[in-house]
Amino acid sequence: MTQEKKLDTARLQAYAQAYGQSAALMSAVELGLFTAISEGAGSIPAIAEALEIHPVNAERLVTMCVALDLIEIQDSGFVNAPDVDRFLVQGSHRYAGDWMLFTKPAWNEWGRLTDHLRATDLRLLPDIAGYTVEQARAYHEATYSIGMGAARRFARQVDLSGRSKLLDLGGGSGAYCIVAADTWPDLRAVVFDLPPVAEVAREFIAENGVSDRVEAIAGDFTADPFPNDADVVVMASNLPMYGPEMIAKVIAKAHDALLPGGEMHLIGETLNDDRRGPVSAAFWGLGQALSETTGMAHSEVDCVGYFETAGFRGVAVQPFVEGVLTRITGFKAA
Ligand SMILES: C[S@@+](CC[C@H](N)C(=O)[O-])C[C@H]1O[C@@H](n2cnc3c(N)ncnc32)[C@H](O)[C@@H]1O
Repeated sequence: MTQEKKLDTARLQAYAQAYGQSAALMSAVELGLFTAISEGAGSIPAIAEALEIHPVNAERLVTMCVALDLIEIQDSGFVNAPDVDRFLVQGSHRYAGDWMLFTKPAWNEWGRLTDHLRATDLRLLPDIAGYTVEQARAYHEATYSIGMGAARRFARQVDLSGRSKLLDLGGGSGAYCIVAADTWPDLRAVVFDLPPVAEVAREFIAENGVSDRVEAIAGDFTADPFPNDADVVVMASNLPMYGPEMIAKVIAKAHDALLPGGEMHLIGETLNDDRRGPVSAAFWGLGQALSETTGMAHSEVDCVGYFETAGFRGVAVQPFVEGVLTRITGFKAA
């Protein structure tokens, strides 16, 4: 006889209260908790002093972080978990604290998700299309470190030696172009992004000393023509900002603009083909409801379809960051 599993509300409660986990991580980053621990603050009094907060609040925050496996308890006192130590200690070039806070400006709007889900008049362009240069700068100060990490990973996975020009659609800070120019000395690269972002990209490009080979062009990839002298196109981390028709259209435009024999790489937060996850892709898709656009999560098989309909050959799906990002590639006929 099969025993029916007794149901309880534990899982449901955990989801209902999960925002407390987000808040704890974000506050720990804002207060510099993990940096203080890495600098030797291993007890509640030492942490309270370093963060300039009440010891009771230090105990509350540390207890939550221990429960979330962000902090470990060792004989010597509190220590950071290995991933926290690598990515959330200020001063390291790997510091990703800004990225942990990237979605925080939308915090209040998540609290109004129900209202947003009732919207019926959905817009085409994401919020960033209405940003000022200052807002675009703040946005890309948060994407820059994680973008550089992703770009380095791309440069390890893909060999662009022999290629002449990379066109990065929605290239943001320019991370992929900057790393590509550093990696392949004969390659030129173009960040193609909305006007305020292109201005910010030029700042990152100059800071990295690659202005001689990397430029930023202001344009809307849904509407404006693409340069037609690139033999590589990259489009990274903007997939859920648009619905299927628009992504298909942009990929078709990229195919037509590419030089014969060129290649395209789409790096995005994709759903599995059965659309049962992962949560991270579903999260970015649902998040588009806050800006009341037609953006949504796309599956791997959806993306392969966009590529093949556009005319790309040899279309392949590769894991990019396991469980988080996928890379879909295709080649234009020579
Ligand atoms: C999350 S950022 C990713 C930036 C960069 N690809 C990276 O991986 O670091 C998404 C970028 O897509 C750009 N974008 C969105 N819609 C766009 C459009 N219609 N035309 C040009 N760029 C667009 C945004 O301005 C933003 O810079």
